[in-house]
Amino acid sequence: MTAVEPLIGIPGPAGDTYLGNLHAFSSDPLGFLTSCAREYGDVVRLGDHNVLLTGPELVERMLVDRGGDFNKKGVEDSGRAARGRGFPTAMMNSDGAEWKMKRRRMQPAFGRTLAVKAAELVDAQGERMLASWKLGEQRDLHGDVSVLVLRLVTQLMFGDEFTDRDAALVSRLVRPIMELSTSPLLLPDWVPTPRHIRLKRGLRDMDRLLRRLTSDPAAVDAERAPVLHALVTGTPTPSPQELRDELATLVLSAFETSNDAVVWTSVLLARHPDIAERVRDEARAAFSAAPPGLSRMERLPYTGAVVRESLRLYSPAWMTSRDSTADLRFGGFTVPAGTTVTVSQWVNHRDPRHWDRAEEFDPGRWLDDSARKMPRGSYFPFGLGARACIGASLATTEIVHIVADVWRRHRLELVDPRGITPRPALALQPMGVKVVPRAW
Ligand code: HEM
Repeated sequence: MTAVEPLIGIPGPAGDTYLGNLHAFSSDPLGFLTSCAREYGDVVRLGDHNVLLTGPELVERMLVDRGGDFNKKGVEDSGRAARGRGFPTAMMNSDGAEWKMKRRRMQPAFGRTLAVKAAELVDAQGERMLASWKLGEQRDLHGDVSVLVLRLVTQLMFGDEFTDRDAALVSRLVRPIMELSTSPLLLPDWVPTPRHIRLKRGLRDMDRLLRRLTSDPAAVDAERAPVLHALVTGTPTPSPQELRDELATLVLSAFETSNDAVVWTSVLLARHPDIAERVRDEARAAFSAAPPGLSRMERLPYTGAVVRESLRLYSPAWMTSRDSTADLRFGGFTVPAGTTVTVSQWVNHRDPRHWDRAEEFDPGRWLDDSARKMPRGSYFPFGLGARACIGASLATTEIVHIVADVWRRHRLELVDPRGITPRPALALQPMGVKVVPRAW
């Protein structure tokens, strides 16, 4: 690769002589990115080959108009240690023609059948979680919702044959990956730490499980296992490793993000009792009028607005980066090929230059046209352009249903409202959310 020209004339924090802005970023990523945007504007130089874009039009230009001039693979590879080992053949970690082929192969799975299935499954899984709760008893909300979401997501990705035992097995793979993503000390994969050993075992179990589920591809049913079916019948036929990598990245992308979104929405509702009451009333009416499924979803417009607003303030995806493959102009500056360009939902969703009462939780802003008329780069919880989230409508269906189901039955009281903090890991995790379910 040819040497990359340094970023000439772009303003940004000077940082430390040797480490640049590494320390400032890693000790408080959200605070650091926010202060960069407030101090330096729409294009910020973060290092010799790193730029942050904060102007909404520039974000749109990068992710949509010039999306083809950026690669994800290099950035994904450098984060591989954080994911424990990476899943190199997955669509998510591919670029160019290979990505296009894999996205086309997977896309049919993410149609209406999957969303209907999700809406129906949430009922059964929600019932199980709520049956284990006692009024007045303290619960770890993130832990409880994680069990619900993992069962839901694995059943959706692998099909109805998937048992609770299988879900426990997948969680043995997912958990060490999540732990590694928040670990301050990342050792190479070959160092036999207990986490690395657990991870290797998890991968082995997952391969065995997939061999069982796909031993006869012709028997994989399109209705009962739409995602697995789309993959095993797709062209070209995926190799066993591709199948494993695709399913593992799907579970990982779906699991923590959805879990965090449900918990953040509940935190916001617990802090805003008037809004919570409106959700309760709408949910009670919707659940009594319509059976589980998408027709119920249509009866939950206010809960939908609550979730949209929660995804604005606490977007589980809080930043994303790409490597540019061409010299490009952004906001009057030249960004040369080979630069890592970052955009941040955390920064743009709360930018007071573009949002009225940016820090305020106001679902009402989604009920009229004002928020929808904002430039697309002001609000992108599911990304933008060709590489936007393939599971966006599935995720929204799940989150709205779970929130409606929980809040129609109980009011959740926060045990320590001031002790809740966002932890920017692979997703923006809510830390310290203990709740007590109360009768309405
Ligand atoms: C609240 C839940 C979710 C959020 C906030 C979220 C967010 C995102 C974002 C921001 C991207 C684009 C990343 C980028 O531009 O670099 C993305 C991509 C992706 N998401 Fe999601 N996601 C969620 C749920 C899901 C679900 C449920 C699935 C699948 C079952 C999923 C699968 C994927 C995949 C496969 C990609 C990569 C797309 C590609 O590279 O073409 N996500 N997601």
